[in-house]
Amino acid sequence: MEFILKEKGEFALDVQSGLSAPNKYLLSKYFYDHRGDELFQKIMQLPEYYLTRTEFSILHHNYASILAPILEMQHEFNLVELGAGDGFKTKILIEYLESEKAAYTYYPIDISGNVLAHLKQSLRDKFERIQVHPIQDIYRNALAGQLWDHKRRTLLLFLGANIGNFVLEEAKEILKLMAATLGSGDFALIGFDLKKDPELILGAYDDSQGVTRDFNLNILTRINKELGGDFDLSKFKHWPVYNPVNGECRSYLVSLADQEVRVDALAATFHFKRAEAIHTEVSKKYDKEELNQLAEECGFEIIHNFQDDHEFFTDSLWKKR
Ligand code: AVJ
Repeated sequence: MEFILKEKGEFALDVQSGLSAPNKYLLSKYFYDHRGDELFQKIMQLPEYYLTRTEFSILHHNYASILAPILEMQHEFNLVELGAGDGFKTKILIEYLESEKAAYTYYPIDISGNVLAHLKQSLRDKFERIQVHPIQDIYRNALAGQLWDHKRRTLLLFLGANIGNFVLEEAKEILKLMAATLGSGDFALIGFDLKKDPELILGAYDDSQGVTRDFNLNILTRINKELGGDFDLSKFKHWPVYNPVNGECRSYLVSLADQEVRVDALAATFHFKRAEAIHTEVSKKYDKEELNQLAEECGFEIIHNFQDDHEFFTDSLWKKR
């Protein structure tokens, strides 16, 4: 069994821990296999999923103001991006930097090498002279590794409300790590989804076409495929809940029956009681007071909150103290 676990690596170990815990869970980073990436692309197009559209319009309307502080320094800089993905939104900023003939190097960080190769090529096609240094790693390692140029100023991007996948305490840890890798006077632009009408929030995670349901269930398909599991997807229900007090939207998969699920690669069988839940994701929503506290506690000063008219979302520009 130990041999099998080693062979299968981190995913197997995390599934083993998550399904053995008293309150079962699976880590949301495992949503994003090939199928998961496709489903997430679909989610971003859904009428109910306001996040991507809103952030896009914020960047579209404010790119010049967002980039003014770093451009005013008139010095070559690092543009580092955590969770770059397809770079769809970042391209708005890059287009402006190119038109201003800014001197910078772009360091997109992502867990997926595939995504990075694609991003680099598409940027090269569009902007011949752009300097791109992809870093394939998880956030923590990439921040600790600091592969960018320390004699330069840095603007660190953490867009798309990706920080929402961390509960408050974890978010603090990541932000402090960000602060530690930045020099005093460096900048961070962070996308936060904001607290709002709970119906709108819940709708974004419970769309009428069932794409988010499929996205959530895909983590079980992934266990079936990669670890020889025999999850019957029809026996689990997608169940997102939003808590307006702490701003956490949590997604669950609830077992509809008393059932045993075998996972060959773990040489294990997991028991699910009827109505037992697997927690799969948190998408935390913030309010202004929390952001002020967060910035303060993690070593930043808030320069400006770039928001849409409805105040659904903010791209918050922070300066390291
Ligand atoms: C990519 C983390 C921002 O939490 O809104 C979308 C992922 N999950 N629908 C989010 C997601 C379900 C998304 N983030």
